[in-house]
Amino acid sequence: MATVQMKVRPEDLSRLPATNERIPNPGIMVIFGASGDMTKRKLLPALFHLEQTGLLPRKFAIVGVARRPLGDEFVQDMREGIIESGGVEASDPKLESFLKNISYYSLSFDNAEGYAGLKSELDRIAKEKGIGDDRLFYLATAPEYFAPIIENLGAQGMNDAGNARIGVVIEKPFGHDLDSARELNHHVNSVFQESQVFRIDHYLGKETVQNILVFRFANGIFEPIWNRNFIDHVQITASESIGIEGRGPFYEKAGALRDVVQNHVMELLSFITMEPPSSFEAEAVRREKVKVWQAIPSIPILNAVRGQYGPGVVEGQKVIGYRDEERVNPESGTETFAALRLQIENWRWAGVPFYLRAGKRLKKRATEITIQFKQPPLLIFNRMQATGPCSEIEPNLITIRIQPDDGIALRFGAKVPGTPGMSVCPVNMDFDYAQAFGKSRANGYERLLLDAMLGEQTLFSHRDGVEVNWALYTPIIEAWAAKTPEVFPNYFAGSLGPECADHLLEREGRSWRNKRGKPE
Ligand code: BG6
Repeated sequence: MATVQMKVRPEDLSRLPATNERIPNPGIMVIFGASGDMTKRKLLPALFHLEQTGLLPRKFAIVGVARRPLGDEFVQDMREGIIESGGVEASDPKLESFLKNISYYSLSFDNAEGYAGLKSELDRIAKEKGIGDDRLFYLATAPEYFAPIIENLGAQGMNDAGNARIGVVIEKPFGHDLDSARELNHHVNSVFQESQVFRIDHYLGKETVQNILVFRFANGIFEPIWNRNFIDHVQITASESIGIEGRGPFYEKAGALRDVVQNHVMELLSFITMEPPSSFEAEAVRREKVKVWQAIPSIPILNAVRGQYGPGVVEGQKVIGYRDEERVNPESGTETFAALRLQIENWRWAGVPFYLRAGKRLKKRATEITIQFKQPPLLIFNRMQATGPCSEIEPNLITIRIQPDDGIALRFGAKVPGTPGMSVCPVNMDFDYAQAFGKSRANGYERLLLDAMLGEQTLFSHRDGVEVNWALYTPIIEAWAAKTPEVFPNYFAGSLGPECADHLLEREGRSWRNKRGKPE
Protein backbone atom coordinates (compact mmCIF):
# COMPACT_ATOMS: atom_id res chain seq x y z
CA MET A 1 0.00 0.00 0.00
CA ALA A 2 1.41 3.38 -0.97
CA THR A 3 2.07 5.99 1.68
CA VAL A 4 2.64 9.68 1.25
CA GLN A 5 4.28 11.30 4.29
CA MET A 6 3.72 14.91 5.15
CA LYS A 7 6.57 16.61 6.99
CA VAL A 8 6.57 19.59 9.31
CA ARG A 9 9.69 21.70 8.99
CA PRO A 10 11.64 22.16 12.26
CA GLU A 11 11.60 25.93 11.67
CA ASP A 12 7.79 25.82 11.79
CA LEU A 13 7.89 24.19 15.22
CA SER A 14 10.31 26.77 16.59
CA ARG A 15 7.85 29.52 15.66
CA LEU A 16 5.28 28.22 18.17
CA PRO A 17 4.13 31.02 20.50
CA ALA A 18 5.73 31.41 23.93
CA THR A 19 3.68 29.72 26.62
CA ASN A 20 4.41 32.00 29.59
CA GLU A 21 0.82 33.11 29.82
CA ARG A 22 -0.06 29.45 30.52
CA ILE A 23 1.80 29.31 33.85
CA PRO A 24 -0.68 29.10 36.75
CA ASN A 25 -0.44 31.14 39.95
CA PRO A 26 1.50 29.63 42.84
CA GLY A 27 -0.74 27.11 44.54
CA ILE A 28 -1.22 23.73 46.18
CA MET A 29 -2.51 20.64 44.47
CA VAL A 30 -4.13 18.22 46.89
CA ILE A 31 -4.54 14.67 45.60
CA PHE A 32 -7.08 12.53 47.44
CA GLY A 33 -6.47 8.81 46.95
CA ALA A 34 -2.78 9.54 46.47
CA SER A 35 -1.61 6.06 47.49
CA GLY A 36 -3.34 4.58 44.42
CA ASP A 37 -1.72 3.69 41.15
CA MET A 38 -3.16 6.63 39.28
CA THR A 39 -1.13 9.20 41.25
CA LYS A 40 2.13 7.34 40.78
CA ARG A 41 1.68 6.29 37.17
CA LYS A 42 -0.14 9.25 35.65
CA LEU A 43 -0.47 12.38 37.78
CA LEU A 44 3.04 12.76 39.18
CA PRO A 45 4.81 11.94 35.89
CA ALA A 46 2.56 14.51 34.20
CA LEU A 47 3.27 17.14 36.87
CA PHE A 48 7.00 16.52 36.58
CA HIS A 49 6.74 16.80 32.83
CA LEU A 50 5.08 20.19 33.29
CA GLU A 51 7.90 21.18 35.62
CA GLN A 52 10.48 20.14 33.01
CA THR A 53 8.79 22.22 30.37
CA GLY A 54 8.66 25.22 32.71
CA LEU A 55 4.89 25.27 32.97
CA LEU A 56 4.53 24.91 36.74
CA PRO A 57 4.68 28.01 38.90
CA ARG A 58 7.94 28.55 40.77
CA LYS A 59 6.14 28.14 44.08
CA PHE A 60 4.06 25.01 44.02
CA ALA A 61 3.25 22.18 46.42
CA ILE A 62 1.68 18.78 46.02
CA VAL A 63 0.00 17.17 49.01
CA GLY A 64 -0.98 13.52 48.71
CA VAL A 65 -3.88 12.48 50.92
CA ALA A 66 -4.92 8.90 51.70
CA ARG A 67 -5.88 6.78 54.66
CA ARG A 68 -2.67 4.76 55.06
CA PRO A 69 -0.05 6.26 57.37
CA LEU A 70 2.83 6.93 54.99
CA GLY A 71 5.81 9.14 55.47
CA ASP A 72 8.87 9.44 53.27
CA GLU A 73 7.87 6.22 51.46
CA PHE A 74 5.24 8.25 49.66
CA VAL A 75 7.77 10.62 48.14
CA GLN A 76 10.02 7.65 47.27
CA ASP A 77 7.11 5.94 45.58
CA MET A 78 6.37 9.05 43.51
CA ARG A 79 10.03 9.26 42.58
CA GLU A 80 9.89 5.69 41.26
CA GLY A 81 6.68 6.40 39.36
CA ILE A 82 8.24 9.39 37.62
CA ILE A 83 11.38 7.47 36.66
CA GLU A 84 9.40 4.43 35.49
CA SER A 85 7.28 6.66 33.27
CA GLY A 86 10.38 6.94 31.08
CA GLY A 87 12.71 9.63 29.81
CA VAL A 88 13.77 10.74 33.31
CA GLU A 89 17.21 9.99 34.75
CA ALA A 90 17.35 9.11 38.46
CA SER A 91 20.16 11.65 38.78
CA ASP A 92 18.20 14.49 37.17
CA PRO A 93 18.74 17.46 39.58
CA LYS A 94 15.34 18.86 38.58
CA LEU A 95 13.75 15.69 39.92
CA GLU A 96 15.25 16.13 43.38
CA SER A 97 14.12 19.73 43.67
CA PHE A 98 10.66 18.80 42.35
CA LEU A 99 10.30 16.04 44.97
CA LYS A 100 10.94 18.58 47.73
CA ASN A 101 7.52 20.06 46.93
CA ILE A 102 5.70 16.82 47.70
CA SER A 103 4.30 15.80 51.07
CA TYR A 104 1.76 13.36 52.42
CA TYR A 105 -1.15 13.72 54.82
CA SER A 106 -2.95 10.72 56.26
CA LEU A 107 -6.73 11.07 56.51
CA SER A 108 -9.78 8.81 56.33
CA PHE A 109 -11.96 10.44 53.70
CA ASP A 110 -15.12 10.10 55.79
CA ASN A 111 -13.55 11.43 58.99
CA ALA A 112 -15.18 14.88 59.08
CA GLU A 113 -13.05 16.15 62.00
CA GLY A 114 -9.84 15.23 60.20
CA TYR A 115 -10.42 17.89 57.53
CA ALA A 116 -9.71 20.71 59.98
CA GLY A 117 -6.23 19.21 60.37
CA LEU A 118 -5.81 19.04 56.60
CA LYS A 119 -6.82 22.68 56.30
CA SER A 120 -4.22 23.77 58.87
CA GLU A 121 -1.59 21.64 57.14
CA LEU A 122 -2.31 23.32 53.80
CA ASP A 123 -2.18 26.75 55.44
CA ARG A 124 1.11 25.85 57.07
CA ILE A 125 2.66 24.72 53.77
CA ALA A 126 1.35 27.80 52.00
CA LYS A 127 2.84 30.09 54.63
CA GLU A 128 6.18 28.31 54.67
CA LYS A 129 6.51 28.46 50.87
CA GLY A 130 4.95 31.87 50.39
CA ILE A 131 2.05 30.46 48.37
CA GLY A 132 -1.34 32.20 48.23
CA ASP A 133 -4.72 30.54 48.59
CA ASP A 134 -5.01 28.87 45.15
CA ARG A 135 -5.88 25.20 45.61
CA LEU A 136 -6.75 22.38 43.25
CA PHE A 137 -8.34 19.33 44.87
CA TYR A 138 -7.96 16.21 42.77
CA LEU A 139 -10.32 13.35 43.63
CA ALA A 140 -8.57 10.15 42.52
CA THR A 141 -10.35 7.97 45.09
CA ALA A 142 -12.91 5.22 44.76
CA PRO A 143 -16.13 6.91 43.57
CA GLU A 144 -18.00 6.34 46.84
CA TYR A 145 -15.71 8.90 48.50
CA PHE A 146 -16.39 11.73 46.03
CA ALA A 147 -19.47 13.00 47.89
CA PRO A 148 -18.04 12.80 51.45
CA ILE A 149 -14.81 14.52 50.43
CA ILE A 150 -16.69 17.32 48.70
CA GLU A 151 -19.01 17.81 51.65
CA ASN A 152 -16.14 17.89 54.12
CA LEU A 153 -14.17 20.38 52.03
CA GLY A 154 -17.28 22.56 52.03
CA ALA A 155 -17.83 22.14 55.76
CA GLN A 156 -14.29 23.44 56.41
CA GLY A 157 -14.78 26.36 54.03
CA MET A 158 -12.12 25.01 51.67
CA ASN A 159 -14.40 25.50 48.65
CA ASP A 160 -13.99 29.27 48.54
CA ALA A 161 -11.14 31.70 49.19
CA GLY A 162 -12.23 35.08 47.87
CA ASN A 163 -10.29 35.96 44.76
CA ALA A 164 -8.06 32.89 44.90
CA ARG A 165 -8.72 30.07 42.44
CA ILE A 166 -10.17 26.94 44.04
CA GLY A 167 -11.04 23.99 41.82
CA VAL A 168 -12.02 20.38 42.20
CA VAL A 169 -11.09 17.70 39.67
CA ILE A 170 -13.28 14.60 39.73
CA GLU A 171 -12.08 11.39 38.13
CA LYS A 172 -14.35 8.98 36.35
CA PRO A 173 -16.62 7.12 36.84
CA PHE A 174 -18.91 10.08 37.50
CA GLY A 175 -21.88 8.08 38.81
CA HIS A 176 -22.87 4.59 37.68
CA ASP A 177 -26.23 5.48 36.11
CA LEU A 178 -28.41 8.50 35.53
CA ASP A 179 -29.77 8.76 39.09
CA SER A 180 -26.39 8.41 40.78
CA ALA A 181 -24.81 10.94 38.40
CA ARG A 182 -27.59 13.42 39.15
CA GLU A 183 -27.17 12.89 42.85
CA LEU A 184 -23.43 13.39 42.63
CA ASN A 185 -23.89 16.52 40.53
CA HIS A 186 -26.26 17.79 43.17
CA HIS A 187 -23.67 17.20 45.94
CA VAL A 188 -20.89 18.78 43.91
CA ASN A 189 -22.89 21.85 42.92
CA SER A 190 -24.15 22.42 46.44
CA VAL A 191 -20.53 22.97 47.54
CA PHE A 192 -18.70 24.16 44.41
CA GLN A 193 -19.86 26.42 41.63
CA GLU A 194 -19.93 24.74 38.22
CA SER A 195 -17.05 27.03 37.15
CA GLN A 196 -14.88 25.35 39.81
CA VAL A 197 -15.66 21.78 38.76
CA PHE A 198 -13.44 19.75 36.41
CA ARG A 199 -14.98 16.36 35.56
CA ILE A 200 -12.07 14.70 33.90
CA ASP A 201 -12.03 12.31 30.95
CA HIS A 202 -8.39 11.63 30.16
CA TYR A 203 -9.22 11.05 26.48
CA LEU A 204 -9.64 14.79 26.09
CA GLY A 205 -6.04 15.24 27.18
CA LYS A 206 -4.79 13.24 24.21
CA GLU A 207 -3.27 15.37 21.46
CA THR A 208 -4.90 13.22 18.80
CA VAL A 209 -8.33 13.79 20.30
CA GLN A 210 -7.83 17.55 20.46
CA ASN A 211 -6.53 17.36 16.94
CA ILE A 212 -9.94 16.20 15.72
CA LEU A 213 -11.17 19.74 16.33
CA VAL A 214 -8.16 21.21 14.56
CA PHE A 215 -8.57 18.80 11.64
CA ARG A 216 -12.20 19.78 11.24
CA PHE A 217 -12.21 23.45 12.12
CA ALA A 218 -8.76 24.73 11.15
CA ASN A 219 -8.92 23.31 7.62
CA GLY A 220 -11.27 24.49 4.94
CA ILE A 221 -11.43 21.35 2.85
CA PHE A 222 -13.10 18.84 5.16
CA GLU A 223 -16.06 20.72 6.58
CA PRO A 224 -18.04 21.00 3.32
CA ILE A 225 -18.07 17.20 2.96
CA TRP A 226 -18.55 16.45 6.67
CA ASN A 227 -22.22 15.58 6.52
CA ARG A 228 -24.95 13.18 5.45
CA ASN A 229 -24.58 14.09 1.76
CA PHE A 230 -21.07 12.67 1.53
CA ILE A 231 -20.56 10.36 4.49
CA ASP A 232 -21.92 6.82 4.38
CA HIS A 233 -21.23 5.92 8.00
CA VAL A 234 -18.75 6.35 10.85
CA GLN A 235 -17.01 3.69 12.95
CA ILE A 236 -15.38 4.34 16.31
CA THR A 237 -13.26 1.57 17.79
CA ALA A 238 -11.55 1.49 21.18
CA SER A 239 -9.82 -1.86 21.14
CA GLU A 240 -7.50 -2.88 23.96
CA SER A 241 -5.25 -5.92 24.13
CA ILE A 242 -4.92 -5.65 27.91
CA GLY A 243 -7.37 -7.34 30.26
CA ILE A 244 -8.71 -5.87 33.47
CA GLU A 245 -5.26 -5.62 35.09
CA GLY A 246 -6.20 -6.80 38.57
CA ARG A 247 -9.16 -4.40 38.83
CA GLY A 248 -11.71 -7.22 39.24
CA PRO A 249 -14.03 -5.61 41.83
CA PHE A 250 -14.11 -2.32 39.91
CA TYR A 251 -14.66 -3.92 36.52
CA GLU A 252 -17.32 -6.32 37.74
CA LYS A 253 -19.47 -3.29 38.57
CA ALA A 254 -18.44 -1.27 35.53
CA GLY A 255 -18.25 -3.33 32.33
CA ALA A 256 -17.19 -1.99 28.93
CA LEU A 257 -20.23 0.21 28.38
CA ARG A 258 -19.77 2.20 31.58
CA ASP A 259 -15.98 2.05 31.63
CA VAL A 260 -15.17 3.22 28.12
CA VAL A 261 -18.19 3.71 25.81
CA GLN A 262 -20.34 6.03 27.93
CA ASN A 263 -17.46 8.47 28.39
CA HIS A 264 -14.33 8.08 26.22
CA VAL A 265 -16.06 6.87 23.07
CA MET A 266 -18.86 9.40 23.42
CA GLU A 267 -16.30 12.19 23.75
CA LEU A 268 -14.74 11.05 20.48
CA LEU A 269 -18.18 10.93 18.88
CA SER A 270 -18.95 14.48 19.98
CA PHE A 271 -15.73 15.88 18.53
CA ILE A 272 -16.39 14.13 15.23
CA THR A 273 -20.00 15.26 14.95
CA MET A 274 -20.47 18.58 16.76
CA GLU A 275 -21.20 21.80 14.92
CA PRO A 276 -18.33 24.31 14.73
CA PRO A 277 -18.31 26.20 18.04
CA SER A 278 -18.14 29.99 17.90
CA SER A 279 -14.87 29.91 19.87
CA PHE A 280 -12.69 27.52 21.87
CA GLU A 281 -14.17 28.89 25.10
CA ALA A 282 -15.59 26.24 27.44
CA GLU A 283 -19.16 27.36 27.12
CA ALA A 284 -19.14 27.42 23.33
CA VAL A 285 -17.52 23.99 22.95
CA ARG A 286 -19.51 22.26 25.67
CA ARG A 287 -22.79 23.67 24.32
CA GLU A 288 -22.17 22.12 20.90
CA LYS A 289 -21.19 18.79 22.44
CA VAL A 290 -24.31 18.59 24.55
CA LYS A 291 -26.45 19.54 21.54
CA VAL A 292 -25.12 16.67 19.48
CA TRP A 293 -25.53 14.13 22.30
CA GLN A 294 -29.07 15.37 22.86
CA ALA A 295 -29.84 14.68 19.20
CA ILE A 296 -29.22 10.94 19.66
CA PRO A 297 -32.52 9.07 19.96
CA SER A 298 -32.69 6.25 22.48
CA ILE A 299 -30.80 3.20 21.24
CA PRO A 300 -33.01 0.17 20.55
CA ILE A 301 -31.72 -2.75 22.60
CA LEU A 302 -31.31 -4.77 19.40
CA ASN A 303 -28.73 -2.23 18.29
CA ALA A 304 -26.47 -2.91 21.27
CA VAL A 305 -24.50 -6.13 21.65
CA ARG A 306 -22.09 -7.34 24.30
CA GLY A 307 -19.32 -9.83 24.73
CA GLN A 308 -17.05 -11.36 27.34
CA TYR A 309 -13.63 -12.81 26.66
CA GLY A 310 -12.71 -16.40 27.30
CA PRO A 311 -9.12 -17.70 27.44
CA GLY A 312 -6.94 -17.19 24.42
CA VAL A 313 -3.63 -15.89 23.11
CA VAL A 314 -2.84 -12.19 23.02
CA GLU A 315 0.34 -10.95 21.39
CA GLY A 316 1.83 -14.43 21.61
CA GLN A 317 1.00 -14.91 25.32
CA LYS A 318 -1.58 -17.35 26.68
CA VAL A 319 -4.09 -15.48 28.82
CA ILE A 320 -6.98 -16.54 31.05
CA GLY A 321 -10.65 -15.78 30.44
CA TYR A 322 -12.47 -12.96 32.22
CA ARG A 323 -14.32 -15.30 34.59
CA ASP A 324 -10.98 -16.69 35.81
CA GLU A 325 -9.52 -13.28 36.56
CA GLU A 326 -8.76 -12.48 40.19
CA ARG A 327 -11.77 -11.36 42.26
CA VAL A 328 -14.23 -11.90 39.40
CA ASN A 329 -17.41 -13.94 39.75
CA PRO A 330 -16.86 -17.27 37.93
CA GLU A 331 -20.34 -16.84 36.44
CA SER A 332 -20.01 -13.14 35.82
CA GLY A 333 -22.39 -11.47 33.39
CA THR A 334 -20.21 -8.35 33.06
CA GLU A 335 -19.43 -7.38 29.48
CA THR A 336 -15.81 -6.85 28.49
CA PHE A 337 -16.89 -5.83 24.99
CA ALA A 338 -19.74 -3.66 23.77
CA ALA A 339 -20.77 -2.56 20.30
CA LEU A 340 -23.70 -0.47 19.21
CA ARG A 341 -25.30 1.45 16.42
CA LEU A 342 -26.75 4.87 16.95
CA GLN A 343 -28.05 7.78 14.93
CA ILE A 344 -27.85 11.52 15.35
CA GLU A 345 -31.08 13.17 14.36
CA ASN A 346 -30.03 16.60 13.19
CA TRP A 347 -29.66 18.19 9.77
CA ARG A 348 -26.02 17.30 9.42
CA TRP A 349 -26.27 13.63 10.35
CA ALA A 350 -29.82 12.35 9.84
CA GLY A 351 -29.66 8.90 8.26
CA VAL A 352 -25.92 8.33 8.87
CA PRO A 353 -25.28 5.29 11.11
CA PHE A 354 -22.59 5.47 13.77
CA TYR A 355 -21.12 2.17 14.90
CA LEU A 356 -19.20 2.19 18.17
CA ARG A 357 -17.29 -0.63 19.82
CA ALA A 358 -14.94 -1.06 22.75
CA GLY A 359 -13.45 -4.12 24.31
CA LYS A 360 -10.66 -5.70 26.30
CA ARG A 361 -8.36 -8.58 25.40
CA LEU A 362 -8.81 -7.99 21.70
CA LYS A 363 -6.24 -8.75 19.04
CA LYS A 364 -4.46 -5.43 19.27
CA ARG A 365 -4.55 -2.03 20.90
CA ALA A 366 -6.09 0.47 18.52
CA THR A 367 -8.34 3.42 19.14
CA GLU A 368 -9.47 4.88 15.87
CA ILE A 369 -12.26 6.58 14.02
CA THR A 370 -13.10 5.77 10.43
CA ILE A 371 -15.22 8.05 8.30
CA GLN A 372 -16.43 6.11 5.27
CA PHE A 373 -17.55 8.23 2.33
CA LYS A 374 -20.22 7.39 -0.19
CA GLN A 375 -19.17 5.82 -3.46
CA PRO A 376 -19.05 8.02 -6.56
CA PRO A 377 -22.43 8.05 -8.32
CA LEU A 378 -21.06 6.24 -11.36
CA LEU A 379 -18.30 3.66 -11.15
CA ILE A 380 -16.79 3.66 -14.62
CA PHE A 381 -13.82 1.52 -13.60
CA ASN A 382 -15.47 -1.22 -11.62
CA ARG A 383 -15.62 -3.72 -14.46
CA MET A 384 -12.02 -3.31 -15.51
CA GLN A 385 -9.78 -6.29 -15.24
CA ALA A 386 -7.65 -6.24 -12.13
CA THR A 387 -5.83 -8.88 -10.20
CA GLY A 388 -5.18 -9.78 -6.60
CA PRO A 389 -6.19 -7.63 -3.66
CA CYS A 390 -6.82 -4.60 -5.86
CA SER A 391 -9.84 -6.11 -7.54
CA GLU A 392 -12.42 -4.05 -5.63
CA ILE A 393 -12.89 -0.32 -5.74
CA GLU A 394 -13.00 0.71 -2.12
CA PRO A 395 -14.84 3.71 -0.77
CA ASN A 396 -12.79 6.71 0.37
CA LEU A 397 -11.95 6.64 4.05
CA ILE A 398 -10.52 9.05 6.54
CA THR A 399 -9.05 7.16 9.48
CA ILE A 400 -8.10 9.10 12.57
CA ARG A 401 -5.72 7.00 14.64
CA ILE A 402 -6.01 8.16 18.24
CA GLN A 403 -3.47 5.59 19.47
CA PRO A 404 -1.05 3.97 18.91
CA ASP A 405 0.68 5.14 15.69
CA ASP A 406 -1.12 8.46 16.14
CA GLY A 407 -2.05 10.01 12.85
CA ILE A 408 -4.58 10.44 10.09
CA ALA A 409 -4.87 8.52 6.83
CA LEU A 410 -6.85 9.32 3.74
CA ARG A 411 -7.58 6.30 1.59
CA PHE A 412 -8.40 6.71 -2.05
CA GLY A 413 -8.15 4.79 -5.30
CA ALA A 414 -5.16 5.19 -7.62
CA LYS A 415 -4.50 3.79 -11.04
CA VAL A 416 -2.17 0.82 -10.97
CA PRO A 417 0.64 1.82 -13.33
CA GLY A 418 1.64 -0.37 -16.18
CA THR A 419 -1.50 -2.50 -16.31
CA PRO A 420 -3.21 -2.59 -19.69
CA GLY A 421 -6.61 -1.55 -18.36
CA MET A 422 -7.71 0.97 -15.75
CA SER A 423 -7.10 -1.00 -12.57
CA VAL A 424 -7.73 0.83 -9.37
CA CYS A 425 -5.87 0.11 -6.17
CA PRO A 426 -6.54 1.72 -2.77
CA VAL A 427 -3.62 3.79 -1.44
CA ASN A 428 -3.13 5.77 1.76
CA MET A 429 -1.99 9.33 2.22
CA ASP A 430 -0.73 9.19 5.75
CA PHE A 431 0.06 11.81 8.36
CA ASP A 432 2.09 10.33 11.19
CA TYR A 433 2.20 12.42 14.34
CA ALA A 434 5.55 11.16 15.63
CA GLN A 435 7.22 11.54 12.27
CA ALA A 436 5.93 15.07 11.79
CA PHE A 437 6.42 16.43 15.30
CA GLY A 438 8.69 13.92 17.07
CA LYS A 439 7.63 11.40 19.67
CA SER A 440 5.90 12.89 22.69
CA ARG A 441 6.38 11.65 26.24
CA ALA A 442 3.20 13.32 27.46
CA ASN A 443 0.50 11.06 28.90
CA GLY A 444 -2.38 13.48 28.35
CA TYR A 445 -2.75 14.53 31.97
CA GLU A 446 -0.28 17.39 31.50
CA ARG A 447 -2.70 19.44 29.47
CA LEU A 448 -5.68 18.63 31.68
CA LEU A 449 -3.89 19.38 34.96
CA LEU A 450 -2.56 22.62 33.60
CA ASP A 451 -5.99 23.66 32.30
CA ALA A 452 -7.59 22.84 35.65
CA MET A 453 -4.95 24.94 37.48
CA LEU A 454 -5.69 27.79 35.08
CA GLY A 455 -9.45 27.39 35.48
CA GLU A 456 -9.98 26.49 31.81
CA GLN A 457 -12.88 24.06 31.43
CA THR A 458 -13.09 23.48 27.67
CA LEU A 459 -11.65 19.98 27.89
CA PHE A 460 -13.75 18.91 30.88
CA SER A 461 -17.32 17.64 31.04
CA HIS A 462 -20.20 19.85 32.05
CA ARG A 463 -22.88 18.39 34.33
CA ASP A 464 -25.42 18.46 31.48
CA GLY A 465 -23.10 16.43 29.25
CA VAL A 466 -22.56 13.76 31.89
CA GLU A 467 -26.28 13.43 32.52
CA VAL A 468 -27.31 13.30 28.87
CA ASN A 469 -24.86 10.44 28.31
CA TRP A 470 -26.09 8.51 31.31
CA ALA A 471 -29.67 9.04 30.13
CA LEU A 472 -28.73 7.40 26.83
CA TYR A 473 -26.92 4.40 28.32
CA THR A 474 -28.84 3.67 31.53
CA PRO A 475 -31.67 1.77 29.75
CA ILE A 476 -29.14 -0.52 28.04
CA ILE A 477 -27.20 -1.04 31.24
CA GLU A 478 -30.41 -1.95 33.05
CA ALA A 479 -31.61 -4.28 30.31
CA TRP A 480 -28.25 -6.06 30.27
CA ALA A 481 -28.10 -6.30 34.06
CA ALA A 482 -31.47 -8.03 34.05
CA LYS A 483 -30.16 -11.00 32.08
CA THR A 484 -26.77 -12.71 31.86
CA PRO A 485 -26.26 -13.96 28.30
CA GLU A 486 -26.21 -17.73 28.07
CA VAL A 487 -23.37 -17.72 25.58
CA PHE A 488 -20.79 -15.87 27.73
CA PRO A 489 -17.85 -16.02 27.17
CA ASN A 490 -18.47 -15.39 23.49
CA TYR A 491 -15.07 -14.35 22.15
CA PHE A 492 -11.55 -15.63 22.55
CA ALA A 493 -8.94 -13.38 24.06
CA GLY A 494 -6.80 -12.17 21.16
CA SER A 495 -9.67 -12.23 18.64
CA LEU A 496 -11.57 -9.38 17.01
CA GLY A 497 -14.47 -9.68 19.44
CA PRO A 498 -17.79 -11.51 19.32
CA GLU A 499 -19.49 -12.26 16.02
CA CYS A 500 -22.66 -10.49 17.13
CA ALA A 501 -20.73 -7.23 16.67
CA ASP A 502 -20.14 -8.11 13.01
CA HIS A 503 -23.83 -8.82 12.47
CA LEU A 504 -24.66 -5.31 13.64
CA LEU A 505 -23.08 -4.00 10.43
CA GLU A 506 -23.54 -6.97 8.12
CA ARG A 507 -27.31 -6.78 8.32
CA GLU A 508 -26.94 -3.32 6.75
CA GLY A 509 -24.45 -4.45 4.11
CA ARG A 510 -21.42 -2.99 5.90
CA SER A 511 -18.48 -4.36 7.82
CA TRP A 512 -15.97 -3.24 10.43
CA ARG A 513 -12.74 -2.01 8.98
CA ASN A 514 -10.72 -4.92 10.36
CA LYS A 515 -13.34 -7.56 9.73
CA ARG A 516 -12.13 -11.15 9.89
CA GLY A 517 -9.98 -11.98 6.91
CA LYS A 518 -10.23 -8.50 5.34
CA PRO A 519 -7.30 -6.11 4.99
CA GLU A 520 -7.12 -3.55 7.78
C1 BG6 B 1 -9.83 3.98 31.58
C2 BG6 B 1 -10.53 2.67 31.80
O1 BG6 B 1 -10.71 5.05 31.79
O2 BG6 B 1 -9.35 4.04 30.25
C3 BG6 B 1 -9.62 1.51 31.51
O3 BG6 B 1 -10.98 2.60 33.15
C4 BG6 B 1 -9.03 1.63 30.12
O4 BG6 B 1 -10.30 0.27 31.65
C5 BG6 B 1 -8.43 3.01 29.93
O5 BG6 B 1 -8.05 0.62 29.97
C6 BG6 B 1 -8.01 3.22 28.49
O6 BG6 B 1 -7.24 4.38 28.42
P1 BG6 B 1 -6.11 4.53 27.32
O7 BG6 B 1 -5.62 5.92 27.48
O8 BG6 B 1 -5.08 3.47 27.60
O9 BG6 B 1 -6.80 4.28 26.02
